[in-house]
Amino acid sequence: RSPPGSLLAAEAMRAAGLLLAWALLRPAGTQQCHLAGPGSVLRFTDTHTEIRVPALHRVASSLDPLYGLVRRCLDLIQQNPLPTELLRAALNDPGSVRTSQVVQYELGYVACAMVALLFTVAMPVAGMCFCYCRSRQRCGGRLRAHRRSLGCRRHCLLVCLSLTSLVILTSVICAFVTSQRVKGQMEPGLGAVPTTLRTLRQHIANVPQGVQMVVDQFEVPRQQIISDLGGLSRSVGFSIHAQLKAMTYAALVDLQDRAGDLQTSLHHLQILDKTARALASARAELEPALRERRRRVVALLDDPRCTSCASVLGRAQSLELGADYSKVPSVEKVLKALAGLPRSDFAEMIRQGNGTFNSIPELAVERMAQVIQDLRDEMARMTEKVQSIANSFPLPDYTRAVSEALVKAEDRSQPYLREVERFEQYRWIAGTVLCSIILLILACN
Ligand SMILES: *[C@@H]1O[C@H](CO)[C@@H](O)[C@H](O)[C@H]1NC(C)=O
Repeated sequence: RSPPGSLLAAEAMRAAGLLLAWALLRPAGTQQCHLAGPGSVLRFTDTHTEIRVPALHRVASSLDPLYGLVRRCLDLIQQNPLPTELLRAALNDPGSVRTSQVVQYELGYVACAMVALLFTVAMPVAGMCFCYCRSRQRCGGRLRAHRRSLGCRRHCLLVCLSLTSLVILTSVICAFVTSQRVKGQMEPGLGAVPTTLRTLRQHIANVPQGVQMVVDQFEVPRQQIISDLGGLSRSVGFSIHAQLKAMTYAALVDLQDRAGDLQTSLHHLQILDKTARALASARAELEPALRERRRRVVALLDDPRCTSCASVLGRAQSLELGADYSKVPSVEKVLKALAGLPRSDFAEMIRQGNGTFNSIPELAVERMAQVIQDLRDEMARMTEKVQSIANSFPLPDYTRAVSEALVKAEDRSQPYLREVERFEQYRWIAGTVLCSIILLILACN
């Protein structure tokens, strides 16, 4: 069973190694967020998704061709494009819009309205005129003698009148039925107005909550950054170590070899120096003895009784020690220079240097601790900043205004909806009255 410490260290090493591998292998220039786990994914839960603004769609019905016809008619009458500038001006400052501008835009409708008004006024007036004339016997048909052709003409006129009345009655009934159907289609939309307004208000009220949720989600990248910061210094250390490893080890081995060479050279130089000194002292001892011998040999050879000595005499006189060790270059200076070399052995120093190099990851953690702490503090400040930005966002100012406007619209729509019901009654009354009039005319005929 391995002690938990070493297990932890192994885990840390593995993680750092992975990080390093990632740092070295990722293509330069790209910034990829590697996802460590499901916890690091931003999750914006949909709050209040249950609140839905009901979308009402008009179902296709038999009235569609009628709608199309109406739209084409309206397009024919009103051909001007939507006056956005005018609308904007009217919304911003209703006083600034001149009546002539509106009339110019609505020219088609105005013309239609004029014609309708003229018709409404002219028709009864003309009828009245005829009625007056008839009552004074000034115009209209005169009594004629009863003939067969007259009876035929009367019947013809009666049929024409009945047909016209029937057409008018059918038109009124058609109009009434169409109006009833349109009302049936409009009703759900009208009924949904207060609900829609209320739902919209709820949505608006939930907006600040949503913003707070986004702010809360900042915790996820913050945690990710904090956890990344935890392994950062170690990974930086490992990265440095890994990138310099090959070069440093080679240099250390080289240094080790050089140090060995230097040690050997020093040893050789020391031996050389010692030998040279020994030889020089031996020569100094040899010198007087040789001089004594030479003197004796010269004296012996210089004897006149010695025949054929003259030729050797010269050589005897020039007898000298052949080796002059003072000519051997002195290594004293070099030795003096090398005396500065540390006495301790190089291997130990290189081992120490290697150890220091190998402890770069731990060293990086130690040296970067302050920087990491500063970054952590900065992250904490960031969270506060994000919160303060969210707080300073003038959301309530807007949402309150919108909510108030919605409440107002809701309140205002209530009487309007009641009004709609009242108009519904008017419609019935108008329809019934019109039909009754037509029926009355028919009956009178
Ligand atoms: C330095 O240390 C590393 C790892 O302990 C080792 O592999 C390497 O041989 C050492 N180098 C020298 C020159 O001692």
